[in-house]
Parts: sequence; C-alpha cells; structure tokens
Amino acid sequence: IIPDVRANDGTTLPHVGLGTYKLNGSAGVAAMVDAMHRGYRLIDSAFNYENEGAVGEAVRRAGVPRSELRITSKLPGRHHRYDSALRTIEESLYRANLEYFDLYLIHWPNPNQGVYIEAWQAMVEARKRGLVRSIGVSNFLPEHLDRIIADSGVTPSVNQVELHPYFPQMAQRVYHDTHRIITESWSPIGRGQDLLAEPVLTGIATRVGRSVAQVVLRWHVQLGAVPLPKAANGERQSQNLAVFDFELSADDMANIATLERTNGRILGLDPLTHEEF
Ligand code: A2P
Repeated sequence: IIPDVRANDGTTLPHVGLGTYKLNGSAGVAAMVDAMHRGYRLIDSAFNYENEGAVGEAVRRAGVPRSELRITSKLPGRHHRYDSALRTIEESLYRANLEYFDLYLIHWPNPNQGVYIEAWQAMVEARKRGLVRSIGVSNFLPEHLDRIIADSGVTPSVNQVELHPYFPQMAQRVYHDTHRIITESWSPIGRGQDLLAEPVLTGIATRVGRSVAQVVLRWHVQLGAVPLPKAANGERQSQNLAVFDFELSADDMANIATLERTNGRILGLDPLTHEEF
C-alpha cells in the first residue's frame, strides 16, 4: 500500500517515513514499535538525537524482518574529519546494536568548518566496508552537493532538507531531480503549528475529507519527496501513512504553492551559517 521510491544507487525507500526527533527512552521505543506495527518501514534517526539505542531496541522488539526496514542515522558536525567520521559511524552501530544502517547521512554541511568533503570520503569508505548500505546528506545546498560530487564522483542517494508549504524549496528540488537524488522532507508538517490552520489547507482538507496533516503529506508525495513526519501518538502515525488513496488536483497544488514565505524556515536554521554541534 505504501509505494517505494528508488534512489540513484538502486536503494528503495517507502514514500513516507517516521521522524524520531524527541522520541527517546522507553516511551520512544514504544512509539517506534507501534509505528512499525502500523506499517512504517523507514525510520529516521541521528547520532545527535540520542536515540539510536532506542531505534535498535524497537527494531528487535517489533519483529519486522530486518530486510524490510530502512533504518537511517546521521553523522554529527563535530565528527567530519575522516577517521573521526568512520569511528562515529561504528559508534552509531554499537549504540543501535545493529549490523548495518540502510542509510546514513551527513547531518549538516557546516561549510565554515570546511571538512564536509572529508566526511563524504569517509561515508564512501563506510559503504565500501558494509557499515551502511546507502549514503546521503542532509541540509546540503546545491553548491555543497556540487563539491562532494566533483571530489568523489559519488552522488548522494538522498538529501534530507527542511520542506513544507511555507518553504517549498523549488530550486533545491530541481537540482535533486536532475541528479536523481531523493528529497526527504524534515518538519514536513511544519511542526504541526500555524501551517495546519492555514485556510487554504483546511479548505482542501474539508473538501477531500482528510485531515490537514494528510493534505500536506500528500502534497509532499505529489512533489516526489519523502516526508518524515514525527508522531508519538498511534492514531496520528496511522493517519500520516494513509495518504495514498486520494489525490490533490493541479489547482490544489497551485493554491498550496501560494503559502510560500520569504523567510519560511520554521526554525530559521540556514545551512550556510548553522554550525551543528
Ligand atoms: P506529537 O508531538 O504528539 O507526536 P513535524 O514532523 O513537521 O516536525 O511535526 C511534528 C509535530 O506535529 C509533532 O508535534 C506531532 O505531534 C505533530 N503531529 C504529527 N502528526 C500529526 C497529525 N496528523 N495531526 C496533527 N499534528 C500532528
């Protein structure tokens, strides 16, 4: 029921995944097990979320075949140096107590630090060693992508970026499509706040008989992006997966496009200046 998208390296990902930022500890494990039982197969985590252990525990408890899952984690900015990056990927695996990650991303480019190219070389090596099956990045601008592709000859499979109707990232998505990079969306429903009260969206939701969150997630799907909504609550988790049995019209898509804002970033985190720890 959940279609797949295919990356430039042959990896397949389900068209919706679970965001896990703030899903920690035993409550986090329970929420993730619940999500897998409700049909989630793509789980997005990060070293810096401090929940790789919880993700691994949830994988073991859920009883879903490992081969069906797409478990993701991310390299922190303080470990971009080649040796440090490789050790950190190993540490991620020890924390999760998993044998491999399906997808591993460089969390932020930290361009002022200027070593994301080295980090990418380590990612390529980690894939060669079998620590991770597929490698990508997060919050990389086209200029950062250009540099790592030119240096290594390896194009990331995924770039996970902030994406929602206030910040639709048209130019970034066109770049991804040109290079067959999957766009993953973080904060896909804008953290569930103002966005969900927008009259354009509530109007469409009423007409199609869906929740506003479902309308927004369907918008991501129709753009070709893979949204990663975070939901702790089971009913919302199920709702956020149920976006493959209705469609938005071209008019709906055009109306949603009017919600773009000049300073649309929800958290104001600019990849050029944000120094992720
Ligand atoms: P909760 O904290 O109870 O899990 P985003 O993924 O854009 O960062 O947004 C996550 C926020 O949106 C969380 O606060 C989450 O609630 C809330 N949320 C998730 N799914 C829904 C939904 N279907 N309807 C309303 N709010 C939702």
